[in-house]
Amino acid sequence: MNRLVAGMEELIRRTVGPQIEIEAVAKAGLWSVLADPNQLENALLNLCINARDAMPDGGRITIETGNRWLDDRAARERDLPPGQYISLCVSDNGTGMPRDVIERAFDPFFTTKPIGVGTGLGLSMIYGYARQSGGQVRIYSEVGQGTMVCIYLPRHHVGEAQADVPTAATAIERTQAGETVLVIDDEPLAACRT
Ligand SMILES: Nc1ncnc2c1ncn2[C@@H]1O[C@H](COP(=O)(O)OP(=O)(O)OP(=O)(O)O)[C@@H](O)[C@H]1O
Ligand SMILES: [Mg+2]
Repeated sequence: MNRLVAGMEELIRRTVGPQIEIEAVAKAGLWSVLADPNQLENALLNLCINARDAMPDGGRITIETGNRWLDDRAARERDLPPGQYISLCVSDNGTGMPRDVIERAFDPFFTTKPIGVGTGLGLSMIYGYARQSGGQVRIYSEVGQGTMVCIYLPRHHVGEAQADVPTAATAIERTQAGETVLVIDDEPLAACRT
């Protein structure tokens, strides 16, 4: 997750513009998650765009990762089984969201933005993705103060220790002289060249 956030920082910076300061706080010793990286990148970018839209005069976006141990009560509050989760939280010091907006924010097509600006699908897709991944999304917001949206994803144990170690190349039997090597590439451009 930390690597994914670091890899997105430049794109986010360019997307939100120079009026907004970005701070990424990567938790050291962060646990691993098993999640679709493209959807996760998409979710993060969407949260940052929401934050930008809530700060028309500029402000600060903080992206923070964390390890969360949800006990019975904390898990019940989030409608999740108790256990270990990784959180990805995006906060801003923008307009904030009134109660009725928070309640409807995950509804598909719910938007407070002018026609043509928002489709109202950002948060509903993030919600669908988080639930599908065994996680949750929560909005913490105060009108006039800002908003924090947190995605919780279950900790993934298998292969965690190897996460930073490049996997050794699989040994391939050496070919002998006179053998034919067949290379298959489904990239359309490559097919055009051959
Ligand atoms: N960080 C935020 N600060 C204030 N309001 C927010 C924030 N994030 C979401 N909202 C509110 O929730 C609504 C729904 O958000 P959502 O991301 O689902 O749709 P959208 O941003 O309006 O459109 P889209 O994401 O499809 O372009 C927004 O229209 C806005 O009113
Ligand atoms: Mg949005």
